[in-house]
Amino acid sequence: MEALVCRKLGDPTLPPDSSEHAPFTFSKSHPIPILNSSTSVRVRIKSTCLMFATGLQTQGKYQEKYAPPFIPGSDYSGVVESVGPNVTKFEIGDRVCSFAYVGSFAQYIVAEETELYGVPDGCDLVAAAAIPVAYGTSHFALISRAKLKSGQVLLVLGAAGGVGVAAIQIGKICGATVIAVARGAEKVEFLKSEGVDHIVDISKEGVIESVKAFLKTRKLKGVDVLYDPVGGKLAKESLKVLSWGAQILVIGFTSGEVPVIPVNIALVKNWTVHGIYWGRYDANRRGVLEDSSKDLLSWFAKGLINIHISRTYKPQEVHLAFADITDRKVIGKVMITFDDAKAITSSKL
Ligand SMILES: NC(=O)c1ccc[n+]([C@@H]2O[C@H](COP(=O)([O-])OP(=O)(O)OC[C@H]3O[C@@H](n4cnc5c(N)ncnc54)[C@H](OP(=O)(O)O)[C@@H]3O)[C@@H](O)[C@H]2O)c1
Repeated sequence: MEALVCRKLGDPTLPPDSSEHAPFTFSKSHPIPILNSSTSVRVRIKSTCLMFATGLQTQGKYQEKYAPPFIPGSDYSGVVESVGPNVTKFEIGDRVCSFAYVGSFAQYIVAEETELYGVPDGCDLVAAAAIPVAYGTSHFALISRAKLKSGQVLLVLGAAGGVGVAAIQIGKICGATVIAVARGAEKVEFLKSEGVDHIVDISKEGVIESVKAFLKTRKLKGVDVLYDPVGGKLAKESLKVLSWGAQILVIGFTSGEVPVIPVNIALVKNWTVHGIYWGRYDANRRGVLEDSSKDLLSWFAKGLINIHISRTYKPQEVHLAFADITDRKVIGKVMITFDDAKAITSSKL
């Protein structure tokens, strides 16, 4: 099968096999993974998302570390190609999506049937790859942890990125007043089309003044929920517009800087800080992720969420996809797609 193998840690924006420093090698003959239990399922991958975290992982800078050689990649969608003898939930040909800690930058992956979610008819299979992690993280953070309510004010940093777009859409579904923070005209135009209530273009203005002016025009006291995948200076500034009793959702640190949240201010203002690590719920409380994925897939089928694909690349172009992320060009998600299978030939074991 085709697979992108991380053969050594390094800069993922280097073309596969281009030099001794390039982390990826593109293989056309990697062994196809075999079913490893009677309830396992082999999926022919159609699409897999690139994530900021995968870029960090390839450089050995992510909290979950893997020693090369390994096949990176988490979120994926595809078609069931082969099933173990005790599989009851899926049949060959079913459309599914899921996530793995690693392994989705390949044409095939094996998962337990309980780890897979059926993609409803009529939903775009390529886009469905963004559901588990990008949408799952934002859904879980806003709904299960912050319990976001209609009328509350939600401030989303990195709002045009993968988890950010998911957060603004889920915020609107909840009936929140959504303030989006992003950089540059193209992202601002996109966020306008998403119907957010206010946009801060950080290439032109500061968060504090812009958000305060907006809150004043709406006669609102402050931000109730801060969704923060960026950290750094932006996070620090955002603390200045939080209301009494606000909640802070710590999602990630794309700025490269872990922000300090002064606990004396958290005490005085009765803030709640939520550390969010979606992936670890898989090991600790899988039911939470299942409920979240079911909600999201039903919203996807009803057209309530609109997964925006910035660009799709072939596996050999993985470096270009990672460059889009590091150059902050991505709006929504960037994907790697694999060619369709000519025929699905495997059968039930
Ligand atoms: N906690 C969890 O369970 C969980 C799950 C998924 C993702 N995450 C984390 O969430 C963060 C965002 O992930 P994502 O997939 O949404 O990433 P993404 O699509 O690349 O978006 C990140 C956004 O961060 C902003 N940014 C600010 N400084 C940046 C910099 N120096 N380099 C790149 N981007 C920068 C960019 O917005 P502007 O250019 O508009 O400023 C960009 O749109 C990552 O840290 C990821 O690891 C956490």
